[in-house]
Amino acid sequence: MPANLEGHVCIVTGPTSGIGKQTALELARLGAQVVLACRDAGKGEAVRDEIVSGTRTSRTEVMQIDLADPASVRTFAANFLATHSRLDVLINNAGILAFRRRLTPGGVETTFAVNVLGPFLLTALLLPLLKSSAPSRIINVGSATHSSGRVEFDNLQGEREFRFIRAYSNSKLDLLLLSYELARRVQGTGVTVNCVHPGTIRTGLYNGLPAAFRFVKFFMRSPAVGAAPIVRLAASPELRDVSGRYFDRLREARSSAASYDVGAGQRLWSVCEALAAPLG
Ligand SMILES: NC(=O)c1ccc[n+]([C@@H]2O[C@H](COP(=O)([O-])OP(=O)(O)OC[C@H]3O[C@@H](n4cnc5c(N)ncnc54)[C@H](OP(=O)(O)O)[C@@H]3O)[C@@H](O)[C@H]2O)c1
Repeated sequence: MPANLEGHVCIVTGPTSGIGKQTALELARLGAQVVLACRDAGKGEAVRDEIVSGTRTSRTEVMQIDLADPASVRTFAANFLATHSRLDVLINNAGILAFRRRLTPGGVETTFAVNVLGPFLLTALLLPLLKSSAPSRIINVGSATHSSGRVEFDNLQGEREFRFIRAYSNSKLDLLLLSYELARRVQGTGVTVNCVHPGTIRTGLYNGLPAAFRFVKFFMRSPAVGAAPIVRLAASPELRDVSGRYFDRLREARSSAASYDVGAGQRLWSVCEALAAPLG
């Protein structure tokens, strides 16, 4: 059973719909001070109002962030650090499934930018505060589709070939490799890092797909089912020291063989560091 989170500060990215919205609501119900890290602040205010009326807590805040834009990620982190003295839980939930290859204004392929580079930069910028707030937790929302992904250093951003499901699966494998690499790097600091597949959940993730793909939504589970494993990782006392693991919904599981390639994780870390530079 999750703990009481009174006094805990939690950031949830992508809380304006689907799994992130439900996660934010559940964390607020447990007493946490939740920061809604939203691309669209107007949508964020509406979610905040729902959370406040559903939980009678006024400690939920909205802060703007566009994970596709490193400048916006830096502004978010600077604003957060200027206004908060602790961070107990960072949930990198926001993610996209982009049907076509598009570049951000900074020239990075959007799936890679939002699912990999944005969370990488956000985590790096908030890591000193997570360390000084330890014990603290980082939860990356991955996907079981990582198992069909490949680390393609010559095609990280679909520059050679772009297929949307492959780009998504690859991005989730990248996120998992970075989760394991970060867990190694923060070992002994009291910061834990885990990655979780929330299940196949009926959300806005599939809205951008052609109608032929969207029928699968009817066979999916509710956002509450998807939020449960994330909230458990964020709040369960028995998971306090568990780090560097992958969870398939509520169970710890082995991830794909490719995800345990330490060399690939280190190399990907360096690539992301270069793309996100300067990190400080
Ligand atoms: N649904 C599933 O079956 C499933 C399965 C495995 C993993 N996941 C993962 O679960 C996570 C949550 O997805 P979901 O299914 O709940 O999808 P969703 O309903 O589409 O929610 C995605 C959230 O991410 C936000 N977002 C998108 N682009 C952003 C950006 N550039 N900057 C900041 N925020 C951005 C969206 O904000 P806007 O409202 O502004 O668009 C929204 O709040 C994702 O990482 C997804 O890959 C989902």
